[in-house]
Amino acid sequence: MQDPIIRISNLVYRRGINIILDNVSMDIKRGSIVAIMGPSGVGKTTILRLISGQLYPNRGSVEVNGKLISGLSRQDLYECRKEIGVLLQNGALFTDLTVFENVATPLREHTDLSEDEIQERVIDKLNSVGLASTGDLMPHKLSGGMARRVALARAVIMNPKIVLFDEPMTGLDPIAMSSVGRLIRETNDQLGLTSVIVTHNVEQMKKLVDYCFILAFAKLIAEGSPQALMHSRDPAVDQFMNGRVEGPISFSLQNEALGANAR
Ligand SMILES: Nc1ncnc2c1ncn2[C@@H]1O[C@H](COP(=O)(O)OP(=O)(O)O)[C@@H](O)[C@H]1O
Ligand SMILES: [Mg+2]
Repeated sequence: MQDPIIRISNLVYRRGINIILDNVSMDIKRGSIVAIMGPSGVGKTTILRLISGQLYPNRGSVEVNGKLISGLSRQDLYECRKEIGVLLQNGALFTDLTVFENVATPLREHTDLSEDEIQERVIDKLNSVGLASTGDLMPHKLSGGMARRVALARAVIMNPKIVLFDEPMTGLDPIAMSSVGRLIRETNDQLGLTSVIVTHNVEQMKKLVDYCFILAFAKLIAEGSPQALMHSRDPAVDQFMNGRVEGPISFSLQNEALGANAR
């Protein structure tokens, strides 16, 4: 692929004696929306942390925008992270700050914009996620879908090039899921972002993404367009894409519990 915005090459990541990710390579195309899927505990959140430079690989490399993440000085990593917006699971808004202040926080922490400029940027972003007049509300007044919209506005307030989403749909009703999905697509295309979405939700993924990576057994077992993967003959891919309980991937309770703890 020409000039991918994120290039992961032969990445190995261990915790103690456990190999979490074993020789994983991924090229993520600039401007695309991609999904990273796989059973709980397989290492999806870990990949997001490796992309944002919170973790370093034991072997192999992660390059973002042509820069080797593990080779950056602390200052350069800080600069590089400004180009990466992150939307954590459940949105994770600050509960004691208004919607406006939640979205303004990254600007206050990382820029020296004037109060007027901050006002303008925050109002513009709230408008673009369809929440024009909610700036004064406290997060507990928001529906689940609205809270995710606020979290999205905050994730893009620094005008990043990349947004990482960790299970952005989890806990939403189907209507809110679809509307958040649409908003992710609009935001991605209007702002010229690249979006990387960790998700369990195969149905939403099929509607939303351009390309999908599937992890199982510490490896990347498949990649391709949702359409191509739906018709895969690989039993593990078929099991995952078509939601079958029986198959090579064991969705044991223990596995689920490990995944939940790790989040
Ligand atoms: N802080 C941690 N300490 C030890 N093990 C961890 C930690 N975070 C994650 N793990 C382990 O790494 C593996 C991958 O975790 P994670 O990336 O969170 O999975 P996923 O997001 O796919 O559910 C799991 O087996 C988990 O138990
Ligand atoms: Mg996770």
